[in-house]
Amino acid sequence: MLRFETAGESHGECLVATLTGIPAGVPISLEAVNHELWRRQQGYGRGGRMKIETDRAEIVAGVRHSRTIGSPVAILIRNQDWQNWTEALPVEDTEGAEGKKKPVTRPRPGHADLAGAIKYNFEDARYILERASARETTARVAAGAVAKAFLGEFGIRVLSHVIAVGPVHLGRAAAWDEIEALSRRTEVLLGCVDADVEQKMKEVVDQAYRTGDTVGGVFEVVAHGVPPGLGSHITWDTRLDGRLAQAIVSMQAVKGVEIGFAAEGAASFGSAVQDTIHYDKEAHRFTRGANRAGGLEGGMTNGQDVLVRGLLKPISTLRRPLESVDLATREPALAAYERSDVCVVPAAGVIGEAMVALVVAQACLEKFGGDSLGETRRNYEGYLEQVKNF
Ligand SMILES: Cc1cc2nc3c(=O)[nH]c(=O)nc-3n(C[C@H](O)[C@H](O)[C@H](O)COP(=O)(O)O)c2cc1C
Repeated sequence: MLRFETAGESHGECLVATLTGIPAGVPISLEAVNHELWRRQQGYGRGGRMKIETDRAEIVAGVRHSRTIGSPVAILIRNQDWQNWTEALPVEDTEGAEGKKKPVTRPRPGHADLAGAIKYNFEDARYILERASARETTARVAAGAVAKAFLGEFGIRVLSHVIAVGPVHLGRAAAWDEIEALSRRTEVLLGCVDADVEQKMKEVVDQAYRTGDTVGGVFEVVAHGVPPGLGSHITWDTRLDGRLAQAIVSMQAVKGVEIGFAAEGAASFGSAVQDTIHYDKEAHRFTRGANRAGGLEGGMTNGQDVLVRGLLKPISTLRRPLESVDLATREPALAAYERSDVCVVPAAGVIGEAMVALVVAQACLEKFGGDSLGETRRNYEGYLEQVKNF
């Protein structure tokens, strides 16, 4: 069973990801992992942190001679900002350390600060935000890069694009070729396939900058080349749509998820929503009239692209802070402000890709198994043959 975990605090020494269950023999390129980390740091609207950090992965276990060896893969990403926090967040308490803390006592509405401080019984929300911070997603992206390498061996690719920033919406489906072209850009603005819409998105972010505000949006992750039959209709927890939804909503600031054109579908009649079924006799395969279902029917992949959208709320830390209460005095106070992002929708798309890649890789391994890539491939090809002869 493929599983992953992350550890690390936003201003701690490093972030760590472990990924267990990847078969032996999967080719891993450090450059490809680092490219994913670079993509996570891009986008118009990011805060100062992205300017001081260039994330680099160190693979410290599970990969030898550029291939996985079947043991857990462990990846470490050092926080360059740690040098500014060694005294504020030391591992061991020393004399005088108390005065060097950077306490957060005015919880930010929308952040984990207040709920976490109450739950863990801290007067200072610092330890809460250190872990709640989306800096943690650096480790998810690193683990996701390994899952992508595995999926790539089966011709499965996972990419994303931005379909809305604030009120500006792409308003149409994007073709895989457009999304692929977008992923090759060396400069990322807002990750939208339409340059005119992207420009309007930029104006919304500029407005947020001007007014000390923040803005959210919607990203879409597309898994391309996925075979039919991953996930299952038989139990609630094997349904792939549910597992993808959990993976996407587990991301910081994501408050909604859509499989395919769910919201549009809910406002339409069934005749306009379901994807009609056809058969191409020459190619001996089923075809579909559209892909509004987002490649999932009955909790199983149906062979079309898997489309998962994440709805991102605007970032909680505002330069023009909202009303809060000081934890020490219980008096009204403006919420704390710490260097922060204004818009993170393109980066969230990249994190969403990692989450979708991890879930799809997990579903592939459940279905095809295998301790080595060769074994998984044999099983996969046998299944494809069965599908072809169906
Ligand atoms: C890529 C990314 C970057 C983020 N950057 C910030 C940030 O700079 N400041 C902030 O307050 N929240 C940021 N967030 C959101 C918070 O981490 C999140 O709102 C907080 O942990 C509370 O969790 P919740 O919004 O899921 O309830 C970011 C989220 C993502 C996905």
